[in-house]
Amino acid sequence: MSQPAFHIPQAKLPALIQAMPKAELHMHIEGSLEPELIFALAQRNGVALSYPSVEALRAAYAFTDLQSFLDIYYAGASVLLKEQDFHDMAWAYLLKAKEDNVLHTELFFDPQTHTDRGVPFEVVIKGLHSACVRAEAELGVSASLIMCFLRHLSEEAALKTLDESLPYRELFIGVGLDSSERGHPPEKFARVFARCKDLGLHLVAHAGEEGPPEYIVNALDILSVERIDHGVRCVEDPALVERLAKQGTALTVCPLSNIKLCVFKTMAEHNLKTLLAHGLKVTVNSDDPAYFGGYLNQNFLATFADLDLDANDAYTLARNSFEASFVSAERKQAWIAQLDATFARFAGDAA
Ligand code: ADE
Ligand code: ZN
Repeated sequence: MSQPAFHIPQAKLPALIQAMPKAELHMHIEGSLEPELIFALAQRNGVALSYPSVEALRAAYAFTDLQSFLDIYYAGASVLLKEQDFHDMAWAYLLKAKEDNVLHTELFFDPQTHTDRGVPFEVVIKGLHSACVRAEAELGVSASLIMCFLRHLSEEAALKTLDESLPYRELFIGVGLDSSERGHPPEKFARVFARCKDLGLHLVAHAGEEGPPEYIVNALDILSVERIDHGVRCVEDPALVERLAKQGTALTVCPLSNIKLCVFKTMAEHNLKTLLAHGLKVTVNSDDPAYFGGYLNQNFLATFADLDLDANDAYTLARNSFEASFVSAERKQAWIAQLDATFARFAGDAA
C-alpha cells in the first residue's frame, strides 16, 4: 500500500518523533534494569554486587560484542528475586514507554535467567503480568509478554521451561529466542518451536544480529517465525532480502544496540536506511535501553540524526510498528488512525 507523502520540515523531526504514536516490539525487560534500580533491589534483597557504586557499574558498560554485554546483563538480573521486583522493573519501563508515546509494547522476558537461580516461574510471570495490567489501566499503554528461550542452553532446558510456563499460557502471547547467537543456530530449537506453534503461540527469533543470514533463513523455514529480531545481516543475501520484502516479514531493528555491541562501528554506517530502501518492513526498537544509552525515542533521534531520514521515513517506521504487532486488525487500525492524525497536524502546521 502506498503511503501519503508528508511535507514536514527536518527541523520539526525531533518534535514529530516525540509526538508520534508508536509500538515497541523488541525490548528485553531485564535490559531495562537501570543501575540505580539494580542497586536499590540489591539492597532490598541483601544481594552482594561486584561493583561498589552505580557509577562504577555504569562505567563497565563498554561492550565489544554481544557476549561481553550478556555477561554483565545476566549479572544485573541476579538482584531480581520477588514478584514485586519483577513488577517494579516492568513498571519503570512502562512509565518510560508512556513518556515516549508508546501505545503498545511486546516485552521479552528470559525466565531461565531466573528459574536457574531458584526463582519460581510463577514469581517472574506474575510480577511482570501485573505491571502490564496496571499499565493498561493507569497509563493507557497496552503491554504483552513474549517468553524467550536462552539459545546458549539446551533444547531440553527450553522444553522444560515451556512445560513450566503452560499453567500461565494465557499470560503471554508468544515465544522468542535470544542470548548468544553464534554457534547456536535456530534449528537447535526446531522441536521446541513446533510445540509452541501447536499451542497457538506467536513465534519470533533473534537472527542475523551477529549470526549469518542462514540463521534468518532457518528461523523462517525451520522455526516458522513471524518476525525476525534484528535481521540486519540479511543484506548479505540478496535472495533473502527479496524474500523478506515480498513476504512483508518485519525486522525489529535496534540501532543503539547495534552500535554498542559493535555490529556497526558508527550510526552513520548503520544499514537501516538501506533496509528501508529495499522495501523491508523495518521497525525501530530499544533492545536493552538501560545498557545501550536510550529508550525508544532516543533510538529514533540518534538514527534520524545520522542517516538522512525524513518525516516520511518516520511515518513508515511508526506504521510498520503497529502493522507488525500481534494485535487485532481493529486495534492496529485505531492506532494507525492516531498516527495519521499526528502527521496531519504536523503537516498542517508546516503549511
Ligand atoms: N538478550 C538481551 N539482549 C539481547 C540481544 N541484543 N541479543 C541477543 N540476546 C539478547
Ligand atoms: Zn534483543
